[in-house]
Amino acid sequence: MEKPTHHIIVCASFRAKGEPKGVCHKKSIELSQYLEGEILDRGLDVLLTTSGCLKQCDNGPVMIVYPQNVWYGKVDSEEAVDAILDSLENGGTAEDYVL
Ligand code: FES
Repeated sequence: MEKPTHHIIVCASFRAKGEPKGVCHKKSIELSQYLEGEILDRGLDVLLTTSGCLKQCDNGPVMIVYPQNVWYGKVDSEEAVDAILDSLENGGTAEDYVL
């Protein structure tokens, strides 16, 4: 298997014990479908995965883009997702959402 160009980790708020909770879970799961669709539509080589709580709950929903290691917060709209994917395509960062 070839490694993807980018890896996006979306916080899904999972805790070691118990159900997912927190600000990320409600919105990030909803936005993940949009994110996945946009990745396909744009033909981006991105692996999308979810994670447990990233300890940035006050700034949720949170996602991390690798290999850039850019942490994004307040990713709570399709506009935010678009800005982040635009930045991947343009080789920059979506400054409005950087943590
Ligand atoms: S629930 Fe997402 S950072 Fe804590």
